[in-house]
Amino acid sequence: MQIRDAFKARYGTEAAVVSRAPGRLEVLGNHVDYNEGCVLSVAVDRYMNLAAAPVEGTVCRVWDDVLKEERTFSLENLLEHTKGDWANYIKGVLVEFAQRDVKVPAFNAVIAGNVPLSAGMSSSAAFEMACGLAFAKLANANIGWLDMAKIGQGAENNYIGAKTGLLDQFSSLMGKADSLVYSDFRSCTAQSIPMPKGLTFVVVNCMVKHVLTNEYNDRRKACEDAVTVISQRHPEVKALRDVSPELLESQRSRLPETAYKCAAHVVGELARVAECLECLKLGDVKRFGQLMFQSHESSRTLFENSCEELDEIVAIAHGIPECLGARLSGGGFGGITVHLVRMEDADAYAARVAEAYLAKTGRKADTFVCAAADGAKLL
Ligand code: GLA
Repeated sequence: MQIRDAFKARYGTEAAVVSRAPGRLEVLGNHVDYNEGCVLSVAVDRYMNLAAAPVEGTVCRVWDDVLKEERTFSLENLLEHTKGDWANYIKGVLVEFAQRDVKVPAFNAVIAGNVPLSAGMSSSAAFEMACGLAFAKLANANIGWLDMAKIGQGAENNYIGAKTGLLDQFSSLMGKADSLVYSDFRSCTAQSIPMPKGLTFVVVNCMVKHVLTNEYNDRRKACEDAVTVISQRHPEVKALRDVSPELLESQRSRLPETAYKCAAHVVGELARVAECLECLKLGDVKRFGQLMFQSHESSRTLFENSCEELDEIVAIAHGIPECLGARLSGGGFGGITVHLVRMEDADAYAARVAEAYLAKTGRKADTFVCAAADGAKLL
C-alpha cells in the first residue's frame, strides 16, 4: 500500500488509520441536488487517500505526496486560512467536526490521490470524505453516512465559500462497484442501480479549468430567485423540484430571463433523470445516451455552464457512432465530459475523441476509462 509506505518514509512510524474515497461522475441531473431533486451519478476508480496517526499537542502536519508539499497548522487556529490552499479542505472538515463536538486529536498525515483536480470529478469531496472517515476513527466517533456527507458539504459551504449541494459527498460515500448511485436530495437517501451490462464511461477532460465558486453561486441564486417568484402564487413550491414544466411556462412572464432559463434547465433535468430511471429498468441504453446529449444541450443553451471546449468535445462525440451519449459533468465551465460507450469500444473511442479535439482546437485532452467503484472506506 503506497500511502502506508509514504507515511512511514515521512514520519518513521506506522499510520494508525488509512482511508480512501473515490471521485465521481455526474451521469444525469445537472445542478439538481440543491434544488432537492434526484440525480444519477457514479463513484469511480480514482481516489483520494489519506494515512494518519495521532500525535501529542495541537499541531497537525500534512504531507501531500503528489504535490510534494507540506502544511502545518494548529487545531487552535483552524479559522486562519489562505484562500485557495489545499489545506483548507482539511481545516474545513475539522471545523465541522468541532461544531459537532467531536474532538479530533492532532495528527501527522500523508495524502495522495489520482482524482483530477478542479476538473468536475469532485476531488475536493473525495478528499473531504477521506479526511472525515479518518478523523472520525482518530476521534473514536461514530458518524453516520448522511452526517459525514453534510460535514463535507459544510466544509465547502462554510469554509471554502462554495454553496454546493450534497451530490459529490453522497456519490463518494454511497458508490458501489458496477452500479450507479441514485440520490434523492429531498429525502436525503441514496440507492444503487446496476450499471447496464457491457457499458462503461469514458472521461474526456477538455483541460480548461473551471472557476467554480462565483459562477456556481450565481446559478444557484438564479434557481432560488425562480422559486421565490413562483412560490408567491404557488406556496406549495418549496424548491424547483416542485415545479412542473407546465407551471414553469405559466410563470415565465413573471420571471427574470436568467432565473427562467436556469429553472428551465433544472426542470428539464428532473424529467430526464426520471425518464432515465425507467430506461435503466427496461435496458434502453440508446435512450439513456440520448438523454445525456439532451442534458448537455440544455447546459449549453439554458444554464450556460458549458464552454466552447466542452461543446466541441460533445459535438465530436455526437459524430461517432460508438458513442451512446455525452455531456459535461458536474459544475461545468470547463473540466470533464462523460461519455457512455460499450466496454469493448472504450479505448479506441477515447483515442478518437482526443485526436479529433486536438485537430480542431490544438488542445491535448486527457482521457481515461472509468469503472464504477465502491464508496469511501477505511482500509
Ligand atoms: C458540483 C457541486 C454539486 C452539484 C454539481 C452540479 O459538483 O459540488 O453539489 O451541484 O456541481 O450538479
